[in-house]
Amino acid sequence: MPLLEVSHLKKSYGGKVVVDDLAFSVDQGEIFGLLGPNGAGKSTAMMMIAGLHLPDAGEIRIDGEPGGVMPPSRKHVLGLVPQELAIYPDLSGRENLEFFGEIYGLRSARLQERVNHVLDQIELNEHAGRPVRTFSGGMKRRLNFGAGLLHEPQLVILDEPTVGVDPQSRSHLLKSVRRLADSGVAVIFATHYMEEAQELCDRVAIIDHGRMLKCGPPQELLDAAHANVHLRVHAEPDHLGDALRGVAEVETTGDHEFLVTVKRDGREQPQAFDKRLAGVFERLAANRAELESIETRERNLEQLFLDLTGRSLRE
Ligand SMILES: Nc1ncnc2c1ncn2[C@@H]1O[C@H](COP(=O)(O)OP(=O)(O)OP(=O)(O)O)[C@@H](O)[C@H]1O
Ligand SMILES: [Mg+2]
Repeated sequence: MPLLEVSHLKKSYGGKVVVDDLAFSVDQGEIFGLLGPNGAGKSTAMMMIAGLHLPDAGEIRIDGEPGGVMPPSRKHVLGLVPQELAIYPDLSGRENLEFFGEIYGLRSARLQERVNHVLDQIELNEHAGRPVRTFSGGMKRRLNFGAGLLHEPQLVILDEPTVGVDPQSRSHLLKSVRRLADSGVAVIFATHYMEEAQELCDRVAIIDHGRMLKCGPPQELLDAAHANVHLRVHAEPDHLGDALRGVAEVETTGDHEFLVTVKRDGREQPQAFDKRLAGVFERLAANRAELESIETRERNLEQLFLDLTGRSLRE
């Protein structure tokens, strides 16, 4: 049984649908990514799962029980790490964790044990006594992350935990997230960094305008996506650009040498692309161009998003 099951989740604000019939499940030990641009509805979906916003429709089940707005006795099952930092600048790192631990009902020796454990996990032991206002952005993010782990939740919701952090803290955070999942925790991880989703997540849901466009292990999604095709050709310089106008881009790379790029156009169907590619080959043959190599460049989720929506993730 999956630890989290979401079905037909829906939310509108002022008549605008921002989460549209979202459905997915997350297993114990799995990192499930929500990948989508600004305004895709990632935070809204997460807030509903965390019980902080009421869905208009749909069902959330956590560990087999109704999720969403839960009685206090069940709230310990999940930990939310919000997109906005929720830590106190004038308290030290340790005091922040003690404060959040107490909110979750931890006391005395148990509280200290958990605070020490989390400080180890986020590798902030050395700096734990300093006021948080003296922390770097990355350290603050790590503390924000730690605050959601104190009560040993089974499901951890991470809303863009690496925004604005230095590369070292980022790699650190990602490793901590992997360790957390390896210990059996189910993780939902929202991001608009495709590299992160590709590297870290066991499965990724690509979200746009509140709808799930694709969902699966990153490699499977990429295998199903098509990339641009690059042809190296030897030809007479005069004709090639004209001959391929409108179907491919032509770049001169040397004496009689050209790189012909057949680009995928956002929402073009695979069959239409194949047809266009065949047309390029025909025109090359008709212009007596000699084909030297064919290459499809490495695919990534950014390209897949572009294929699906006609827009870039970062627009
Ligand atoms: N409380 C609210 N009232 C009105 N509109 C809202 C509210 N919260 C979110 N929205 C709108 O819902 C849409 C989805 O927002 P949401 O914050 O869930 O997106 P997101 O994917 O988390 O984006 P980001 O990557 O910028 O964090 C946006 O158009 C946003 O303006
Ligand atoms: Mg958000």
